[in-house]
Amino acid sequence: MRLEDVQRIAVLGAGNMGHGIAEVAALAGYDVALRDIEEEFVRDGYDQIEWSLGKLAEKDRIDEEAAEAALDRVETFVDLADSLADADVVIEVVPERMDIKKDVYGQVVEHAPEEAVFVTNTSSLSITELSEVTDRPERFCGMHFFNPPVRMDLVEVISGKHTSEDTLELIEGLAEEMDKTPVRVRKDSPGFIVNRVLVPLMNEAAWIVESGDATIETVDSTTKYDMGLPMGSFELADQVGIDVGYHVLEYMHEVLGEAYRPCPLLVEKVENEELGRKTGAGFYDYE
Ligand code: CAA
Repeated sequence: MRLEDVQRIAVLGAGNMGHGIAEVAALAGYDVALRDIEEEFVRDGYDQIEWSLGKLAEKDRIDEEAAEAALDRVETFVDLADSLADADVVIEVVPERMDIKKDVYGQVVEHAPEEAVFVTNTSSLSITELSEVTDRPERFCGMHFFNPPVRMDLVEVISGKHTSEDTLELIEGLAEEMDKTPVRVRKDSPGFIVNRVLVPLMNEAAWIVESGDATIETVDSTTKYDMGLPMGSFELADQVGIDVGYHVLEYMHEVLGEAYRPCPLLVEKVENEELGRKTGAGFYDYE
């Protein structure tokens, strides 16, 4: 597959990251098949894209015509086989669990065009392990976007053990077509680069509050205003999804050791399904 041959991109998973990545691809001029397992999920994802494009136009980041054209390029699907028809690149953006991702790619290989290149937006999991459930581990790599994809410039392009140089160059080129800056990550290790740094920071912020040393508001205002981060740690956890950070930590804890044990405050939020903006409540309320 050459970069100039890529026309249609299947995005599997219409959640927070999935719909954002679909939007970025559509804005770059690609035809997008957005797929999720239920009509309601895929409809929500589509509505979010519409909202986001409207917001970008309102803020003069794009013009109205570009917003309309991008929305027109997005088709929604529930049937997996239909969503994969004619796909040149498949971007998997399903929940951050190896068993779910393996299951999805196990089905994708049955329906995807032979030439299609596969990528995963995993935040932390092993690219090599996931590539090995497919019939094309050399045409498989990580393509990790950041939340919200339409506003964040960086994309980590992660090589698995079997990934070919051609595949990495293709995906780096695709990221550039999407107006992103790709950074190649050669080592397929938990959390790659950004989350290896960022997620322990969120965890440490939670431990400070858990131990009673400071409030959520104090930690956030200090990290935001005094340290110059664009968002406070808890605000960012709510934006990313507390469950996403938690799953990354769980995996880092399992593979890298005790330093990455998730703070009980995060565990509690996940158990109560207070996951941040997407559920209307997390560390802050959004209703
Ligand atoms: N689409 C369109 N508009 C959006 C949007 C989206 N997806 N998300 C937010 N906006 C809008 C907001 O609604 C707001 O508009 P209103 O003022 O009308 O409400 C506007 O954008 C805010 O944008 P500004 O440029 O005015 O504000 P800002 O300078 O604070 O920028 C930001 C916003 C770019 C999100 C910035 O806060 C930021 O960079 N935050 C940090 C995000 C970050 O670090 N993300 C990475 C997380 S880690 C991750 O994702 C990896 C993982 O695997 C866990």
